[in-house]
Amino acid sequence: MDLFTYDPGYTSTGSCKSAITYIDGDEGVLLHRGYPIEEIAEHGDFLEAAFLILKGELPNDAQRTKFVTDISRHSMLNEQISFFFRGFRRDSHPMAVMCGVVGAMAAFYHDSININDPHQRMVASYRLIAKMPTVVSWTYKYAMGQPFVYPRNDLDYASNFLHMMFATPCEPYKVNPTLARAMDRILILHADHEQNASTSTVRLAGSSGANPFACIAAGIASLWGPAHGGANEAVLAMLHEIGSKERIPEFLKRAKDKNDSFRLMGFGHRVYKNYDPRAKIMQRTCHEVLDELGIKDEPLLELAMELERIALSDEYFIERKLFPNVDFYSGIIFRAMGIPTQMFTSLFALARTVGWIAQWNEMLTDPEQKIGRPRQLYVGSPPRHYLPLHQRG
Ligand code: CMC
Repeated sequence: MDLFTYDPGYTSTGSCKSAITYIDGDEGVLLHRGYPIEEIAEHGDFLEAAFLILKGELPNDAQRTKFVTDISRHSMLNEQISFFFRGFRRDSHPMAVMCGVVGAMAAFYHDSININDPHQRMVASYRLIAKMPTVVSWTYKYAMGQPFVYPRNDLDYASNFLHMMFATPCEPYKVNPTLARAMDRILILHADHEQNASTSTVRLAGSSGANPFACIAAGIASLWGPAHGGANEAVLAMLHEIGSKERIPEFLKRAKDKNDSFRLMGFGHRVYKNYDPRAKIMQRTCHEVLDELGIKDEPLLELAMELERIALSDEYFIERKLFPNVDFYSGIIFRAMGIPTQMFTSLFALARTVGWIAQWNEMLTDPEQKIGRPRQLYVGSPPRHYLPLHQRG
């Protein structure tokens, strides 16, 4: 028999070498290419973070200008894709539409199939980063029954996304710089997070040499689940369900009960056993956005903060080192910006596309890269003989 380690959930398996992201879960540290997430979020913008994650260094002035121009050149979708959208039901979940549309992009950009050509890999990467805001905003427009809004390359990445979400042919969207900056920061916070489920899915799909658009569609599918990117949507549903501060103890009791499947959404992380550094920035951003919009006494924010306070003084959560993660506050910000709950995970996918595509590129240039092929512990029937139909019980 072959010898291998049985490791369900890969809790102790290093699947690759990577120079992109470093996490120290005990200390609550997150670095991209060596730079702390706090500094990137404070001083950079999303496209600068994308350049860093993709290429390994911060861009100089000329590189930055060229990168922004190169990305914006690809922001339109092939017009045929607009017909593809029209094949979906209007009440489809945005993540379902995204899986389909992004996978279908493989049928439009045939040159991307040449994954051994570094230039073609970079073109596919730029296309994905550039087109994702258009895909996400068009899922929204389609659900709303509004006409698609085309990208505006004179706007920065986050402002252009907000424009495509909220402009209509009768009314241009006046971009609020504070909201655009907040959106940009949220995208930075979600851009990469080393070998999580969706990134590992992209690497595994890509390890067979598959088309990059198909690999990213696989990542989107994996991200959708409530234990991963779907948690931001689930947090808001949970806060609505709890409803009032008085009911927090009842839900904490349920979260601790092993016979109840209820979990505190937005709490806990496979790697962080300390406060998720992204959650701290997210909480600050949440206050900034609500202040800017003049939203005082937002009941969901107050409920979330009280839930955090009570949970973090509870033995169960202290012992298990369960802290709020990046998803705990993001939903409240999105909601305040007017983004519907069903869209939350799509925004995560938009941002994480940078990490997925950087990890995909890194994998393909790794000389030690092999097709991903985990083993299993077989627990089925011992060998037996095939019975003709009339002899089966
Ligand atoms: N509420 C209540 N108990 C929890 C929670 C929670 N949110 N998370 C973990 N636990 C308990 C779990 O029951 C277990 O208890 P025990 O040791 O008594 O059996 C212990 O803590 C360890 O949990 P685990 O399930 O072994 O931990 P994991 O590393 O497999 O799971 C997780 C990590 C994020 C899936 C999990 O904490 C969870 O389901 N959290 C809620 C969903 C969520 O917020 N997900 C977003 C993650 S961050 C964004 C992203 O990466 O996509």
